[in-house]
Amino acid sequence: MSMRLSTVLVKRTVVPLLQTSRALHTREKSLVSVRADPAIVPPSLMSVLPAHHLTTKVIFDTHTTADFKYIWLRDNCQCPKCVDPSTKQKLVDSPALDLNIKPLSLNINGEGKLEITWSEDAGTHKSEYDPAWLFKYGQSFMQNNFASDSADMDIMPLRPEFELWDRTTIWSSFPEMSYNEMMESDSGLRQWLDMFYKYGVAVLRGVPTEAGKIVDVVKRFAYVKETQYGHIFDVINKPVEGSHLAYSGVALAHHTDMNYREKSPGMQLLHCLKANDPKMSDSDPGGRSFFTDGFRIASWLEENEPAAFHVLTSTPIRFSIKNEGRQYSALWPILCTNAEGDVTEVHYNNRTMKPLQAPTHVVTPFYHAYKLFSDKLRDPASCLEFNMVPGDLVAFNNRRVLHGRTSFDATRVDRHLQGCYVDIDEAFSKYDSLQTRFYRKL
Ligand code: OGA
Ligand code: ZN
Ligand code: ZN
Repeated sequence: MSMRLSTVLVKRTVVPLLQTSRALHTREKSLVSVRADPAIVPPSLMSVLPAHHLTTKVIFDTHTTADFKYIWLRDNCQCPKCVDPSTKQKLVDSPALDLNIKPLSLNINGEGKLEITWSEDAGTHKSEYDPAWLFKYGQSFMQNNFASDSADMDIMPLRPEFELWDRTTIWSSFPEMSYNEMMESDSGLRQWLDMFYKYGVAVLRGVPTEAGKIVDVVKRFAYVKETQYGHIFDVINKPVEGSHLAYSGVALAHHTDMNYREKSPGMQLLHCLKANDPKMSDSDPGGRSFFTDGFRIASWLEENEPAAFHVLTSTPIRFSIKNEGRQYSALWPILCTNAEGDVTEVHYNNRTMKPLQAPTHVVTPFYHAYKLFSDKLRDPASCLEFNMVPGDLVAFNNRRVLHGRTSFDATRVDRHLQGCYVDIDEAFSKYDSLQTRFYRKL
């Protein structure tokens, strides 16, 4: 799949812009402005004045002002005694500071920096604050909100917006790449991780059909997350009494894996080692894989059925499983949201969902909301469905994209997938580092 730079920098309109990507959208805008807008050059200090309540008022030459509390300034002193110069880790013991600490003196020094001599230690501790640093970390004091919490995530703006997809849009820019390109070049790996980030699903073609090859793919950007199913697991038709429905030929309806763990794995990979070629058979041999963008369905629900959306974001559901005498159990709403109301995770698996425990009046609204969400999810217009053929590997965001497979006749179909999980932040951290290098080169 060819990637153009413009797809990363410019707002796309493949699918409607949705709530789930609001925060990312803001970050993307900041990327564009940082790179293009000269007005973003940090202002210098015009004046600094002691104010009431152990505060200094800082006035920038753009006439923006921010109130900095003395305790905050002292705690965030950047001197080598307070921040280790080599690791940049903080050395100040914040809880040991005097909450009523005051400056002995406070002024703008010859270099245009805010300079404070503190009352502690007989006036021997001096701090200097760069105007750009004050401007960056003063944002939440200027705006009186928490929105600048991402001020320190210097790399995050290089992440593009999520692209929410349905059957038509995903087929129109199918997120696939050859195994060789991804394994052999950093630009290939960057593009593959970029697709994985944006769509929550990315396919590799032509992966050698050797057992364990999936581990080599993962090692390219992270390491395998071991679970109770092992380092890697085989989805093969070998029904063992009491083991797992996946190891039979039954259909697996849309789901996300392992909602019963304290945190469901963020990234899942499935590598097809064996499958019947549908072209060689006169009827569909079954065992087709399908994937649906849960964030798009959630966003559809929020726009069209807000009451149902509220039910799914606020009703805790217990997911449990017993495997070989071990039990795992966790409680999640089907749709998790963050403080801004954006959907951050989907937890959906009808096989491991336990009886709803809620006030009686919530029961019918819950089933109503669950049905609305599920019907939309299962709508063929929402789904990416295809036959994985030997050499295909699909990676997907298990907290965003739901997956499943159609049933197959185990006597006719020889099907073998190998799968594993990865901590998704490992994949994203590798992606961020490749993005940084890529943009530096431009
Ligand atoms: C699973 C699963 C998919 C498949 O094992 O959880 O979703 O295609 N398997 O067999
Ligand atoms: Zn200091
Ligand atoms: Zn699964």
